[in-house]
Amino acid sequence: MERTLVILKPDAVQRGLIGAILQRFERRGLRIAGMKLLQVSDSLARQHYAVHEGRPFFDGLIQFITSGPVVVMALEGKDAIAVTRTTVGATAPGKAAPGTIRADFGMDIGFNLVHASDGPETAAQELALWFGADELVNYSRVIDPWIYE
Ligand code: RTP
Ligand code: MG
Repeated sequence: MERTLVILKPDAVQRGLIGAILQRFERRGLRIAGMKLLQVSDSLARQHYAVHEGRPFFDGLIQFITSGPVVVMALEGKDAIAVTRTTVGATAPGKAAPGTIRADFGMDIGFNLVHASDGPETAAQELALWFGADELVNYSRVIDPWIYE
């Protein structure tokens, strides 16, 4: 089992798509280990996107992610990191495959609705950045045996 970090970005919240997007992850079988709505501070945004510092889109990205509340969640499952990335789709919604969240809900790279960790190291880093250890919950669901053999 792996855990990954997902952020429903300000465009997803403003467009009233929290439920529709969350449903994609739940329906796939991913289990929610933690979830909260918050207004992102400039400092948290810069830490989260530190890898992009210096890129031409960096300032706009910080401005965007701090422009309104986000919903952040920890998702859990077998190969959760890769499964979540494929459910989210390519960075630019215009190039994302149909059936992915970004293709089905978005048009422009600047409003691509969702963030998802891109590997085991970033997932661990990002989960520690966004959640306290006591905010993540270990539990099983009655449906889990119907999702995994
Ligand atoms: P994310 O980190 O949000 O899950 O997205 P990603 O891995 O698919 O894309 P990444 O390369 O990590 O870029 C992070 C976010 O920066 C914005 N971006 N804008 N204007 C541009 O050329 C550009 N490139 C990236 C997007 O919001 C992207 O999700
Ligand atoms: Mg990324």
